[in-house]
Amino acid sequence: MDKGVHKILLVAGARPNFMKIAPILRALNKIDQTNEINQINYLVVHTGQHYDYEMSQAFFEDLEMGRPDYFLEVGSASHAVQTAKIMVAFEEVCLKEEPDAVVVVGDVNSTAACALVAKKMGIRVAHVEAGLRSRDLSMPEEINRMVTDTLSDWLFVTERSGIQNLKGEGRPETAIHFVGNVMIDNLYYQLAHLGAGDAGGEKPSGPYAVLTLHRPSNVDGEEKFREIMEATVKIAAGLPVYFPVHPRTRQQIEATGLERRLDSGRVHLLPALPYKPFLRLFKDAALVLTDSGGLQEETTALGIPCFTIRENTERPVTIEEGTNRLVGTSAEGILSAFEEFRSGNSKKGRVPELWDGKAAERIVSILLGNPG
Ligand code: UD1
Repeated sequence: MDKGVHKILLVAGARPNFMKIAPILRALNKIDQTNEINQINYLVVHTGQHYDYEMSQAFFEDLEMGRPDYFLEVGSASHAVQTAKIMVAFEEVCLKEEPDAVVVVGDVNSTAACALVAKKMGIRVAHVEAGLRSRDLSMPEEINRMVTDTLSDWLFVTERSGIQNLKGEGRPETAIHFVGNVMIDNLYYQLAHLGAGDAGGEKPSGPYAVLTLHRPSNVDGEEKFREIMEATVKIAAGLPVYFPVHPRTRQQIEATGLERRLDSGRVHLLPALPYKPFLRLFKDAALVLTDSGGLQEETTALGIPCFTIRENTERPVTIEEGTNRLVGTSAEGILSAFEEFRSGNSKKGRVPELWDGKAAERIVSILLGNPG
């Protein structure tokens, strides 16, 4: 059994991290600190990898996370520069705070950078969402996952494929904990607390699709991006498409001058949305098209048909059990899947094992040394 921890730093850097930290914080806040065994001190470190109001602060407000204890302001840069800046700044925090564990979530640059710093300082590392593998090393996230899992003392897994992947890489079974999915904890919590004031603009009246796109492989190359946008315009002729636009994607829409073409093609361009307005939008969508990791899981949990605009996924349970379908990145692949969907042939699914809203509680219990 692990020795319990008493002081932890929780690391959040980019948009998809915030939804994963929020339920862990809630579970920590619920601990009965009058019991000496459970006494634990925890601080949130925001690296500043994402910094726009819509990409960062809006999430902290929306997810009721208060203010981070540290904001490292690293901002955007090349991978090497961004990772290095996070490491330098995070080392200072670790030196000052002397935590006995660092909790990192997901697969962004902040995840790998902080895991590396902590481990080299002899601080134990917990990785939430461990073991996912796309086997596609052209994705920066895959490299971040592998590095982080190699260094972590606690490997908190969301789906059974993660256990197999970690065992296959020689990670000890005692470090692997199948706990469920904190992203889904957050989804259920936010759904239950969605108020009328969280509308964030007009809600479409009839059936509609929601699109999100931000992977460099889909967005940064002009030819690929145009192809996906042309497919989107064709889909929107049959089903209006609502498209909250990530800053990386916004840059490409501006560079290619596609804004007019999309607008006239019934594609509704929206700013990047905070969590609650986005949830309000996608929870009632007839179809979600995305290259996000988290949205593949959220649509599976809610039973919404999802087209993943990628060639692979690190989240196979969403395909095997859920509503997710890999449609590739060609216009032909996307449109033929849409034709099937239109003819009523959409995928039904079930909610994967342990996606029950209690993953964060399991994680906290294990960190405190009471694995169950
Ligand atoms: C990062 C993560 C990705 C995650 C995504 C969610 C890595 C390697 N990638 O990708 O895994 O799915 O976040 O959004 O960690 N920008 C802004 N404002 C911001 C943030 C970014 O304008 O607040 C712009 C910058 O021009 C930046 C670009 O968006 O160069 C990309 O941002 P970056 O953080 O490098 O990667 P993401 O594509 O957001």
